[in-house]
Amino acid sequence: KGDPRLEAISQAIRVVPHFPKKGIMFQDITTLLLDHKAFQDTVDIFVDRYRNMDISVVAGIEARGFMFGPSIALAIGAKFVPLRKPKKLPGKVICEEYELEYGTDCLEMQVDAVQPGDRALIVDDLVATGGTLSAAIRLLERMGAQVVECGCVVGLPEVKGQCRLNGKPVYILVEPR
Ligand code: PRP
Repeated sequence: KGDPRLEAISQAIRVVPHFPKKGIMFQDITTLLLDHKAFQDTVDIFVDRYRNMDISVVAGIEARGFMFGPSIALAIGAKFVPLRKPKKLPGKVICEEYELEYGTDCLEMQVDAVQPGDRALIVDDLVATGGTLSAAIRLLERMGAQVVECGCVVGLPEVKGQCRLNGKPVYILVEPR
C-alpha cells in the first residue's frame, strides 16, 4: 500500500478495551469523525476507488455505515440507500437475517429503493465476522442489483482481499489496532 493517509486514519480510530463488553477491543470511529483531515481522506480514498466503477447505488449499513456512505454517494453521483435494523423503515421492505453471538438480528431495505441492473457499493465502518455484510449483499441481490464491492474502514487481515462474502470482494482501509 504505502499510502501515508492510511496510517493517519488508523491512528485516528480510538481503541476502547472492554467495550461494549469484557474482552472486546472496540474500534471507535467517532474520533476519526472529529479529525477533519483523516475523515476527509477516508472518504476521498473510497471516492477515488469507486468514481469510475459505474456505481449507481451506495447502500450504508446502520448505524456507522451512515457516517461514511452518503458522502461517498454524493461524490460519485450515486443514490444512497439505508439498510436498517428491523421496523425502522416505512413501506414495503425485505429482510435478511444474520447471526449474532447470541441469537439473530436482521437488516431491512425498502424494495422500491433498488432496481434490477443497479450496481451497488455496500459501505460500513467495520467488518468482523462478515455476517452483517453478507445479509446486506443478499438484500441487494434479491432486488436484482449487482454488488460490485463492499467497502469498510476497518477489517481483519483475514478478510482483506478475500472474496468470501457471497463471492463479493471486500475492500478494507486499515486493520484493527
Ligand atoms: C457493528 C459494525 C458492523 C458489524 C460488523 O455494528 O458497525 O455493522 O457490527 O460485525 P460482523 O462483521 O461480525 O457482522 P453493530 O452490530 O454494533 O450495530 P450498530 O452500528 O447499529 O451499533
